[in-house]
Amino acid sequence: VDLPLDLVGAIHDLKRELNAVILAHYYQEPEIQDIADYIGDSLGLSRQAASTSAEVIVFAGVHFMAETAKILNPDKLVLLPDQEAGCSLADSCPPEAFAAFKAQHPNHLVISYINCTAEIKALSDIICTSSNAVKIVEQIAPTQPIIFAPDKNLGRYVMAQTGRDLVLWEGSCIVHETFSERRILDLKMEHPQAQVIAHPECEPAVLRHADFVGSTTALLQYAALSPTHTFIVATEPGILHQMHKQNAQKNYIPAPSGTCACNECPFMRLNTLEKLYLAMQHRTPRIDIPEATRLAALRPIQRMLEMS
Ligand code: 13P
Ligand code: SF4
Repeated sequence: VDLPLDLVGAIHDLKRELNAVILAHYYQEPEIQDIADYIGDSLGLSRQAASTSAEVIVFAGVHFMAETAKILNPDKLVLLPDQEAGCSLADSCPPEAFAAFKAQHPNHLVISYINCTAEIKALSDIICTSSNAVKIVEQIAPTQPIIFAPDKNLGRYVMAQTGRDLVLWEGSCIVHETFSERRILDLKMEHPQAQVIAHPECEPAVLRHADFVGSTTALLQYAALSPTHTFIVATEPGILHQMHKQNAQKNYIPAPSGTCACNECPFMRLNTLEKLYLAMQHRTPRIDIPEATRLAALRPIQRMLEMS
């Protein structure tokens, strides 16, 4: 494949030619973040996708995010630089098994974390993200039983925050589950002034030591506003790029995992600047969703946007 010498310039040219917008998640590699028109957490990205006037959405993130953009914009072309960019959490909840789980819990309202497939969204009543999950559950009548899927860690966090009893699907994120409580405690000993900031997809053993828990956008805002100098950051380290850009004087230490040297999301990192260029050049890989699934999945996303 022939790549242009000035890849960044060529991507800008294609953006004008296609009337495209590039949306990127904070877990993307720094050079993709730097070329994006908008970087955000899942809620921010959904809001951007819902309001963009561009004709083409290039989604530098994972499949469920690009799918959400397509559900909101059936007439737009939605491109995902690498179609293998999936998500262990979304994979942990297959539609047939989830439909059976739902049938075992009749009369339950289904609230699903946005990290799930369009088929699971279509089986849900309300979608939430890590930044509005607590707020959404708090709006539901206390007598209404709730299924919360697919992330058991976010579910347990919401239970602790709201005092509600949720029926949890047993899914989890391979990245956030690797952080080691033991090694975070070692870091805290080494840096006694440091604060631990963590994403709610982390296990309870890690969240127990967190000074602040929030979505990626909330972690960024907290790190910017807090007078603390050193942060141990328990989420995917792609976010450190924006933290450094916000305030290069502060010290951000990526939380260590217990089992391997790397805590990057293998799915998010499949996207590269080269693949982003090629996707725009060839208008593929594109996201397509059967219309019946799209319509069923749209309703709970719209409910989320109204409730948050
Ligand atoms: P947020 O950016 O919405 O916090 O989500 C994190 C995540 O795991 C996305 O895959
Ligand atoms: Fe999925 Fe976890 Fe990667 Fe987010 S970080 S895309 S939840 S595997």
